[in-house]
Amino acid sequence: MGLNRKDILDIESLSPDEIRLILETSESFKEVLGRDIKKVPTLRGKTVINLFFEASTRTRTSFEIAAKRLSADTINISASASSVQKGETLSDTVKNIEAMNSDVIIIRHPASGAPHFIAKRLKASVINAGDGSHEHPSQALLDMLTIKEKKGGIEGLKVAIIGDIAHSRVARSNIHGLTKMGAKVVLYGPKTLVPKGIDKIIGKYCNTPLRVAESMEEALTDADVVMMLRIQLERQGQSLFPSVREYSRFFGLNGRNVSLAKEDAIIMHPGPMNRGVEISSEIADGARSVILDQVNNGIAVRMAMLYLLAGGHKEVVT
Ligand code: CP
Repeated sequence: MGLNRKDILDIESLSPDEIRLILETSESFKEVLGRDIKKVPTLRGKTVINLFFEASTRTRTSFEIAAKRLSADTINISASASSVQKGETLSDTVKNIEAMNSDVIIIRHPASGAPHFIAKRLKASVINAGDGSHEHPSQALLDMLTIKEKKGGIEGLKVAIIGDIAHSRVARSNIHGLTKMGAKVVLYGPKTLVPKGIDKIIGKYCNTPLRVAESMEEALTDADVVMMLRIQLERQGQSLFPSVREYSRFFGLNGRNVSLAKEDAIIMHPGPMNRGVEISSEIADGARSVILDQVNNGIAVRMAMLYLLAGGHKEVVT
């Protein structure tokens, strides 16, 4: 079975079967990554471009390692060192990159919809590595792989997503992905950072009910998975939350409130973390934290995305 599409732009447009295919192919690549020689020749001769208009540690490095493990040639381009600085448009930039026989363009851009804009104009495959506050599909896929691995499945789990829901592309991709896979997703955060009616607006596209909790206690109680989101400190001053101290007190995960979640609940965070704000160090580094497992799984997931877009089939990962 293969993935019959040119691009991966969001989770919203992926079917549950496509998500399952990517996760199962990722599991095969995890086996490859456990070998002495962690490399397969699948994408030999292909060129993968990492085009990042925003900072990144995890996503960019992980896509680069994934492409290299598949034997592709990889090039990193950051906006600050490109001709974008001289006024070149996004459309011209990507058409010039494609003219150099690039096969896959991975793009992170501050504008929601930028990957969709370029995907329409290129024959090359496009992968969204995060667009504004819209979606971050590879993050949600690696999150789902981590949950599947740690909890044995996704269906029926209570997943609490807590923090700045309004600006979080990670939240949006996970809401779509987790509900497609049958999880019960509960959102919580400051009222100013949880869009009013989100449970109905996005919820109508979800396979399982999407709820907004009224309190941290309601969100955490009996959760199987707690996913904390980065508070975007750059938004301080916009009156969206009173102070970092208050945020930490009312919306942060710590040694006291974590006990409301199930005893075997896992704690997730997409990174980068603000230690002591949305999550205490005690929890981030504690036994239930799977934060570094998420990062580790990112490589296998991104290998699967690249492999399947290049026409690979789950059955023939060797
Ligand atoms: N989770 C995530 O997208 O991290 P980076 O911004 O470091 O890529």
